[in-house]
Amino acid sequence: MDHVYPSNPEFVAKANVSGMDAYRALYERAEQQPEEFWAERAAENLHWFKKWDHVFEWNPPFAKWFVGGKTNVSYNCLDRHVNGGRKDKTAILWEGEPGDTRKISYGELLRLVCRFANVLKSRGLKAGDRAIIYMPMIPELPVAMLACARLGITHSVVFGGFSAEALKARIQDLGAQVVITADGGWRRAKEVRLKDAVDEALAAGDCPTAKEVIVYRRTASQIAIKEGRDYWWHELEEGMSEECPAAELDAEHPLYVLYTSGTTGKPKGIMHATGGYLLQATMTMKWVFDIQESDMYWCSADIGWVTGHSYIVYGPLSVGTTTVMYEGAPDTPAFDRWWSIVAKYKVNIFYTSPTAIRALIRQGEQWPEKHDLSSLRLLGSVGEPINPAAWEWYHRVIGKGRCPIVDTWWQTETGAIMIAPMPGAVPQKPGSGTLPMPGVLPQIVDLDGKPVEDGKEGYLILRRPWPSMLRTIWGDPERYKEQYWSRVPGVYFTGDAARRDSDGYFWILGRVDDVMNVSGHRLSTMEVESALVKHPAVAEAAVVSKPHEITGQAVCCFVTLKKGDHDPRKLGVELRQWVAHEIGAFARPEEIRFTDALPKTRSGKIMRRLLREIVTSHTVAGDVTTLEDMSVVTRLAAQQDED
Ligand code: WTA
Repeated sequence: MDHVYPSNPEFVAKANVSGMDAYRALYERAEQQPEEFWAERAAENLHWFKKWDHVFEWNPPFAKWFVGGKTNVSYNCLDRHVNGGRKDKTAILWEGEPGDTRKISYGELLRLVCRFANVLKSRGLKAGDRAIIYMPMIPELPVAMLACARLGITHSVVFGGFSAEALKARIQDLGAQVVITADGGWRRAKEVRLKDAVDEALAAGDCPTAKEVIVYRRTASQIAIKEGRDYWWHELEEGMSEECPAAELDAEHPLYVLYTSGTTGKPKGIMHATGGYLLQATMTMKWVFDIQESDMYWCSADIGWVTGHSYIVYGPLSVGTTTVMYEGAPDTPAFDRWWSIVAKYKVNIFYTSPTAIRALIRQGEQWPEKHDLSSLRLLGSVGEPINPAAWEWYHRVIGKGRCPIVDTWWQTETGAIMIAPMPGAVPQKPGSGTLPMPGVLPQIVDLDGKPVEDGKEGYLILRRPWPSMLRTIWGDPERYKEQYWSRVPGVYFTGDAARRDSDGYFWILGRVDDVMNVSGHRLSTMEVESALVKHPAVAEAAVVSKPHEITGQAVCCFVTLKKGDHDPRKLGVELRQWVAHEIGAFARPEEIRFTDALPKTRSGKIMRRLLREIVTSHTVAGDVTTLEDMSVVTRLAAQQDED
């Protein structure tokens, strides 16, 4: 039996979308008259220099939205608030890891953005050029993004944890003219030396397009400055005007490219356009996060990932809210850093990932208990399926049973949230993203594109293009076609497996390549993981399949344990039994391996692909540039050799 959690009546009464009928009315209108629906939203929620000629153009699989319309993302995020009474409202509330803080009003942010846009202009950069932004989580990161957006320079933010190699590949693929960086940033009380990595990426002359580097001074440590190539941000800004008109850009102008790992070794540059992207980021802020004028909103992601683009920078600033930004790690100086920030700034809406929640569960409830979390009214989750046990902990320990949880399913490619509960309307079930957003038509199908029955697993597809969808893969339209629109012809293939229950709720089961088949039973790695982490001794689990002579595939589990005395042999037997009991005998793991850490990407996703390689071939090949700590993999592979 699924547990159902309706939102509390007080929340529902004040919500932007209140009650199931209101949700249904929006959904049905968007389904039946999509162009009218989006045109109305675009007119009401964004500023346009010139209205579009027509709403939608579709040359499968290439979409255009608001064709002929002229707008500017930076204008929408700044000028219209400054002109509309929010000049003194705090736009960004920032806390550095060492404890320094900044509070930047919309008026001040506009001045900062204009000044830096004038710097970019003075270096000869113009609409259509490309900038790589490789910065720590400081306010100048959104300033740089918005300055690019103001002029029509397409930006690509590279997460500060990426190596010089990964950075180089991105500069090259994008053909960027400029790299915007900082000397370094703070993480776990250590300096992340960003400028050194930029020097390494540019060293051998491998990036001929990138002629200039602009460096913001954050840590004030010693760095090399290459004459004629590197310039200090603060020196270039001297004497620059704080006014800079926003370019009137085509609605389809490329706003940004964000690289994400694909199935091959080469990262894909996901390209987003201007008008449709901003519209859907804006609408989902209102629908999913129920933004109200007085809200203090905090998304704990890094801006280097799509979640930070849409839900730290563009979405929150477009709706004129206050967006909290924190530079560092959640465990520095101690495991209550996040909760101290929530209490200090009276955060109302908090958005994070299941991985983070599970890591915090592992440390115990004493950390959140030290702080007053009563300002919270809504919680969110993103990035991977949230196991019901973690959902319930989040609800009980952080939300005190009072806050609805929005489990938001979407992807770098979708630009904005696709499936999530509107919290004033849709009762939640732990582990389910619940119902689609207006204009999103998900379906569960088999590989022939035929719908599967409710309750059965299948491929999650989206049947209709939406405003914030990726427009292409940068420089590789063929790959875009092949990857997303050819697996099931004519529809968008998400790469996720899912099922829909009899209430129409969607349950995301993980990437398609994470689905195992054991004795002909389809089994999601996630289901097994979810079962394992319910066991009181287990902190985290990652499950992969390995080839098996008799059953086709067998379940292999990598498990980290909570602190305490454990007898691995006994516990291994117990956990296999536990999984068989939780799911069914067919799911009984072949193997349980205990480890002190799991290999994760820097955004916190467990890299199951690496584990699969370890269990099948004992070694790791392919792209590991997104891995946070290579030594985890080396240890796991070595462990295998000893067996
Ligand atoms: C997974 C992150 C279950 C999914 C915004 C998707 C999720 C991939 C959820 C995209 C969720 C994201 N429930 N799975 N709420 N959110 N995913 O591009 O497999 O980093 O395809 O975008 O993460 O990851 P990406």
